[in-house]
Amino acid sequence: MLELRNITKTFGSVIANDDVSIKIEPGTIHAIVGENGAGKSTVMRIAYGFYNADAGEILVDGKTANIKSPQDAIWLGIGMVHQHFMLVDTMTVAENIILGAETGGAFNLDLDKANEEIARLSNELKLGVNPKAYIENLSVGAQQRVELLKALYRNAQLLILDEPTAVLTPQETEDFFNILRRMREQGKTVVIITHKLEEVLAISDFVTVMRDGKVVGNVKTSETTAKDLARMIVGRDVLLRVEKTDAKPNETVLSVQNLIVKNSHGEALNDVSFEVKAGEIVGVAGIEGNGQTELIEAIAGLIPISQGSIELFGKNITNVSTRKRKELGIAHIPEDRHRRGLLLDFDLAENSMLGVHYRPPVTNGIGILNQSAINKRASEIIGNFDVRPPNPQLSAKSLSGGNQQKLIIGREFELNPKLLLVSQPTRGVDIGAIEFIHRKLIALRDAGSAVLLVSAELEEVTALADRLLVISKGKFVGEVDPKTTSNEEIGLMMTGGN
Ligand SMILES: Nc1ncnc2c1ncn2[C@@H]1O[C@H](COP(=O)(O)OP(=O)(O)OP(=O)(O)O)[C@@H](O)[C@H]1O
Ligand SMILES: [Mg+2]
Repeated sequence: MLELRNITKTFGSVIANDDVSIKIEPGTIHAIVGENGAGKSTVMRIAYGFYNADAGEILVDGKTANIKSPQDAIWLGIGMVHQHFMLVDTMTVAENIILGAETGGAFNLDLDKANEEIARLSNELKLGVNPKAYIENLSVGAQQRVELLKALYRNAQLLILDEPTAVLTPQETEDFFNILRRMREQGKTVVIITHKLEEVLAISDFVTVMRDGKVVGNVKTSETTAKDLARMIVGRDVLLRVEKTDAKPNETVLSVQNLIVKNSHGEALNDVSFEVKAGEIVGVAGIEGNGQTELIEAIAGLIPISQGSIELFGKNITNVSTRKRKELGIAHIPEDRHRRGLLLDFDLAENSMLGVHYRPPVTNGIGILNQSAINKRASEIIGNFDVRPPNPQLSAKSLSGGNQQKLIIGREFELNPKLLLVSQPTRGVDIGAIEFIHRKLIALRDAGSAVLLVSAELEEVTALADRLLVISKGKFVGEVDPKTTSNEEIGLMMTGGN
């Protein structure tokens, strides 16, 4: 169906793809795995015409294809769904789908036809998408299916999916995989880039492993294991679940009482009370959108609260500014790194001083920046957190997704926080880096910090948390010991017991 031959692509001095050859058989699901920055997105964006290769050849159905733009790729039956959705919130599903599709004629006529065709496609694959629904009213999972429909509407026979499940709940992921299986039954071909090895084993027929811009392995999924894949990806054995000793909790660092936070849909947090002590990791488990984001942002001081109190070391900080909270020792690793975590157009050095840019040693107190202090700090973060490529002068947007995340984590750890608020710390991060970040979080705990951890990955919260609070519809529905409680039990509590 698709063959990439000897593809090479450089960005400045970075070799993103180095003589990459990949063959995708028709009617199969083919996974591409590899560390952050290995070149996975780049090579697939080349197949989609989003980037042009410096050297190499692309063949579609055995014939040389001249793919210079996504239009060329679409014409050849290739579709791609990017990790960051590109949908217009205030328009309907059908309007989004025909936007940019070359249907010709009057928009309204096209819209009627599109509504019908989209409803047909949606029924055929059991997508459950209403063409007349507005995007802003759809869940993340449904938006993902709209992106899929958009490619299918353009008659894609080969679909490239870049980390499609990174933002899906476990249930949504299962539904999504069933859709991919139905597509395969119809004879379509799927390429899926992912960091989740269980998913690779569950969904794919073949796996290609990339490292440092090169292909280092090609295997049949039925002939491999998670352990073998992990070793191929990182080049050494990886602990898929970190080990830790029991927590030795100390004094109370954070105390939240009767917290109520409202959002546009009503009460996001409804009378929440809990504490986090020095030397412990408290995890919050729940299906996304049940108040976790608001909980973290309220404690960080980023959104207003309606009622309740937040205390740090017994001192009421409910009305204290975000900046002051930071000075008091609260660090925050946000879930949405593009919106809250980074200035994408700024370089790594500038990004690594965000939050401390106004105080010594970064400035001298009268607003003059100390360039050598900034560079020293940036180099430390880049070194300690293995940010690649290790060049403080690169812009944040030129980094691969996982490396952006490592930079943010490094920056917040560098503050030596007394309380760390952390949301989805390993979303989009490769398995080697997950092991690394998990070790760092445990080391921070052992050094006496209090950690409040939110993650949609049940595996992650149960591996790291010393105590686990389960949240559902803005309320804590229980506290469990992750060592003695099964994922099934926790899952049941997350869905409110049904
Ligand atoms: N537009 C760009 N400008 C400069 N460098 C880039 C650009 N896109 C990618 N790179 C670099 O090319 C290399 C490969 O990046 P790519 O995004 O393909 O990695 P990836 O395997 O998809 O990683 P991840 O798992 O983190 O998404 C990285 O070193 C990255 O920094
Ligand atoms: Mg990528």
